[in-house]
Amino acid sequence: MSTTTSPASKPAAGQVRAATTPGAAGASSATTAGGRVALRQEALHAAIADPAMDSMRILSETAMRFPDALSFSSGAPYDGNHDLADLSFHIDRYVKHLQERGVPQHRITRTLFQYGPVNGFIQDDVAQMLRQDENIDVPAEAVMITHGFQEATLVALRGLFAGPDDVLLSVSPAYVGIRGAARMLDIPVEPVGEGPDGLDPEAVAAAARAVRAGGRRPVALYLVPDFSNPSGTVLPLEARRRLLEVAAEEHLVVLEDNPYGLFARDGEAMPTLKSLDTAGRVIYLGSFAKSAFPGARLGYLVADQPVTGADGTTRTLAQELSRAKAMFSVGSSSLSQAVVGGILVENGHTLRPATRDLAAVYLERLQVTLDSLAEHFPPERHAEHQVRWNTPRGGFFLTVDVGFEAGMAEMERCARDYGVSWAPMSMFHIGGGGERQIRLGFSNLAPEAIREGIARLARFISESPLA
Ligand SMILES: Cc1ncc(COP(=O)(O)O)c(C=O)c1O
Repeated sequence: MSTTTSPASKPAAGQVRAATTPGAAGASSATTAGGRVALRQEALHAAIADPAMDSMRILSETAMRFPDALSFSSGAPYDGNHDLADLSFHIDRYVKHLQERGVPQHRITRTLFQYGPVNGFIQDDVAQMLRQDENIDVPAEAVMITHGFQEATLVALRGLFAGPDDVLLSVSPAYVGIRGAARMLDIPVEPVGEGPDGLDPEAVAAAARAVRAGGRRPVALYLVPDFSNPSGTVLPLEARRRLLEVAAEEHLVVLEDNPYGLFARDGEAMPTLKSLDTAGRVIYLGSFAKSAFPGARLGYLVADQPVTGADGTTRTLAQELSRAKAMFSVGSSSLSQAVVGGILVENGHTLRPATRDLAAVYLERLQVTLDSLAEHFPPERHAEHQVRWNTPRGGFFLTVDVGFEAGMAEMERCARDYGVSWAPMSMFHIGGGGERQIRLGFSNLAPEAIREGIARLARFISESPLA
């Protein structure tokens, strides 16, 4: 089922104009008796009123709306390790790094204060990190520094999707950022359902063929192979290899989103699709939100595919897409780049050792969540309450099946009356599904709070009638 509203379902221009007074604020405005401009939501782009575009805000604001509730609703990272002094330390570290490389002081000052190159100035640092941490070997020219994963996605989608019949295949359930980005750009999305081991490559092939049979063009596939959000699944190695074959057979670009891969148990890290990709099928979408901190709003796009222009010159796709980035954000924050650049330099351009303590924090929280669920719902109570949950090997999330519809209204009742919030899984499903499932994000709750939160959740589940 395609999820983008077709242009035909938008309000006709005439409907809007019927209630408007053309003039100062344009044809889609209406004036009230007091003469002040008032707008009607239907007059705005249809995506603005689409619930798919509001999920991000709802998830990040739930904790603020219910300040007394323990929040399993977001994937906010652990923040007990932050120190304000680290910001200036890392900026200084990056400045020193530039000085050591012989960059004159006036150029360093300009780098930090002026408009800079659209694709950023820490691409080489990120390329070095990718070589060490992910075995991804690309030149700095294949890297674009972005305003988080979110902008990397918008840039990639804008570049790849050329016409109204171009379709994005997406794992479902999926991170709300991909669906909202596609919706904003009027790109139709077709869901490919996942199992306990993530996407089945043959299901991807079938979905691509079905799109083609319907006269449209499947252009790209989005997935999170490592500890996916929302379900915590990890794609097995054989499936990774087969998925790349399917991508080649079906002429798909693969959009690999990997914010959680660093937090695997020792010895369990999987090779990224990009590192296995010998044919240039994969665009890698990275984020520093979980490996550094989300307030930096820094991420990156890796696109080493060559693009030849009308004049015969060839550049990387990342360089070519800088025109799109320029129009989204002009360039990424120089201060954030300097801080993250300093973190990379300070850690010898590898974040794996630097994030071992953090990985241990998340793995402990996952274990406490699983143990608390098991304590409140021993096997003999599973059938009585129709409760089951998955057991991811890492990441920030797990999902719980319940015996009643668990939508936004139930979540709000649970937060208000039981003092614990979570995310309805239906928010992540594309084209329906997940109505009796909840997502628990445990990354930003201390073990004691998790134990108390699961006790409250267990009371809520036990007291909610099966339906
Ligand atoms: C699957 C997924 N991708 C990316 C991100 C990070 O995005 P950004 O860099 O825009 O904060 C998140 C954060 O929650 C996520 O869950």
